Order: sequence, then C-alpha cells, then structure tokens
Amino acid sequence: MIKVGILGLGTVGSGVVELLEKDRSIITKKLGKEIVVEKILVRNPSKQRPDYAKGKIVFNADEILNDPEIKVVVELIGGEEPAKTYIEKALKKGKHVITANKEVVSKYGKELLEIAKQQNVAFLFEASVAGGIPIIRPMKRCLAANRIIKIQGILNGTTNYILTQMQENKKTFQEALFEAQKLGYAESNPSADVKGFDAARKISILSSIAFNTWITPDKVYTEGIEKIGIEDIKYAAELGYVIKLIASARKVSDNDIEIMVCPTMINQNHPLSSVRGVYNAVLVEGDAVGEVMFFGQGAGKMATASAVVADIMEAASGKNCEYNFVNCDINVVDVWTCKSDF
Ligand code: NAP
Ligand code: HSE
Repeated sequence: MIKVGILGLGTVGSGVVELLEKDRSIITKKLGKEIVVEKILVRNPSKQRPDYAKGKIVFNADEILNDPEIKVVVELIGGEEPAKTYIEKALKKGKHVITANKEVVSKYGKELLEIAKQQNVAFLFEASVAGGIPIIRPMKRCLAANRIIKIQGILNGTTNYILTQMQENKKTFQEALFEAQKLGYAESNPSADVKGFDAARKISILSSIAFNTWITPDKVYTEGIEKIGIEDIKYAAELGYVIKLIASARKVSDNDIEIMVCPTMINQNHPLSSVRGVYNAVLVEGDAVGEVMFFGQGAGKMATASAVVADIMEAASGKNCEYNFVNCDINVVDVWTCKSDF
C-alpha cells in the first residue's frame, strides 16, 4: 500500500480521487500495490465536500507535508504560491511529488528537479502540458534519440474552445469563455488562458525537455486571443483558413530557437485546423522520426486526472524519470513578426 496526500479538491483533484476509486482494482493489479488517498487539503471550510472525502479533509498543508506515512504528494491547487513552497517542502521531506501546475513547473522546474534528484524522489508533471495527452514522457523517452527541429501545437483548451464556439456556433467571446469556465477548462484567473500565458508556460516546458536546457516562459513571445473578433474568423474562413492559438518552438540555427504563442491563420487542410473545442494537438518534428502528432483532450476533469494518476502510479512504482539538463548553448532569439508556415 502507498499513501498519497492530495493538495486541492477542485476540477482536477476531484477527478483524480474519483478515478483512483473507480479503477481501484485494475490500478492495484497493474501496480502490485494499493494507492490510498490519506488526506486532502482544501482552503474553504464552508464548501460542501463529496462523501468520498469524509474524514480526509485538512486545512493545513503541514498535516500532509509532515506526515511520514504519506509518500506521494499531488499538488493540484494551482497558481505560483503557496503551491511552489508546498512542492519544495514535500520534495525536501523525501516525498515524490506530482503536479499539473504549469506555472510552477515552467518557472521553477529546473530547481525542483534538482531537489528531486538530490532526494532520489520523483517530480512528475505529465498533466502540466496538454491535459490528458501523453507528451512529456514521450518527448523525454520515446523521442530521446532525436534532435528536435520544431514543436507546433494547440496547447490551451479554453482558447481553442472559445475560438471553435465563435466560429461554429457564432457565440460571442464572453459567452464562450463563460462556458469554458463552467466546464472546468479555464484557469481560476482566465486571463492566463486568453492572454496566451498558459500556452506560453506549456511551450516553455515542452521546449525545455525537447532542447535539453531550461527555458522560462518570460522568453516566449506571447500574444493572446482577446483581439480576435467574429469578423476575423469570418474573413479567415472566406480565405480557406481557421484561426488557432498556436504555440511553437523551432530551431532557426544550430544554437538558436525561436519560441512563441500567437493567434495564427491555419490552412483548412492542415491537421491542426481540425482540432476543435477542448482538444489540443502537438506536432513534433525530429531529425530521425520526421513528424509525429499527439492529439486529445487538453483540459477537463477526467482527461487531466488520467495523466495525474499515471504519474502517481509511476512514482509509486519507484521509477522516477530523471531529467538531466546539460548546457546545450541554446539561445532563444527575438521574434520580430509572427510568421506562419501553415
Ligand atoms: P480548481 O478547480 O480551482 O481547484 C483548486 C483546488 O485547490 C480547490 O479545491 C481549492 O480549495 C484548493 N486550493 C486553492 N488554493 C488553495 C490554498 N492556498 N490552500 C489550500 N487549498 C487551496 O483548479 P483545477 O482546475 O482543478 O486546477 C488545478 C491545477 O491543475 C492548476 O495548476 C491547473 O492549472 C492545473 N490543470 C487544470 C486543468 C483543468 O482542466 N482544469 C488541466 C490541466 C492542468 P477549495 O475547494 O476550498 O476552494
Ligand atoms: N486552462 C487550461 C486550458 C487547463 O484551458 O488548457 C489545461 O492546462
């Protein structure tokens, strides 16, 4: 048996606990041991909690972080602080940490991975990029033999949902954003989604792994979708294009990469043009493999829980997927214009 402490019981946290409960027997069989959710941290004492949380709820993170029986901590509260402090404390206490928090991973991933390595524990964050799509581990492991040439993707479910609703159902930006919030796709501060910061955090994490050097989100040229109106979408369609918020990173010389997030006109024949709603897709080009594409739900309760629970199982199994960031002399070059090769 392995005891787990969960920080946060919102959209993703509740999905994780429900998935662990629903698939308990198959997970236990696959892993050879049972995963038991011991304690769950929340903030608001007056919120109604589901029955499965009874007797497990705590309001002080130290009850989890200082519990020697808890070997795995799952951070799902979001935001920079106190999430980063909790993750760091848990790692320093010798606990494995799983997170879906792209803000913390993109800004502090390098130092947190170093602490994890010193403590010989896992720090895993598959759900931090593209929700349920397996991309971090495939990038790190399955594409390890490649020199990555480019990554292009739709990495934010909320903005893709908004753009799709504006295009297909003539919804206004505000109506579509409200729906995305109600469906649990948006960040607690949705400006991170619509201004492109969330996608910038995700492409910085992916690029760090792909190019083997940590690239923080402040290096990413970032434009959001707030200025896109129904008229833009209509004119793009008349020309045979759809507008998508594209995150990309590409080698422009041996040592330079260009990395950006911006609304882009995509030819209707391009595979990224058919990625609708909350779905995300990531196109990766490697020197050996050529182009590969990953596709699936980029946000949402159970899809994201799928990635988090897989990480819990990986940590519980004792594997800890090390990341070694060497100095690869990679520079991020300035982006002068949003170029399109679609
Ligand atoms: P959420 O629905 O807002 O839930 C946040 C949970 O954390 C709530 O239970 C909240 O407590 C708790 N919490 C927040 N601040 C806290 C604090 N200071 N101390 C204790 N508890 C605190 O968030 P979410 O959508 O599940 O997202 C969680 C993380 O997953 C974020 O990093 C997000 O970016 C990431 N993520 C989300 C999705 C998605 O589709 N939603 C997908 C991929 C990754 P109360 O219940 O008491 O309010
Ligand atoms: N707010 C994020 C999105 C959640 O819409 O993509 C998944 O990371």
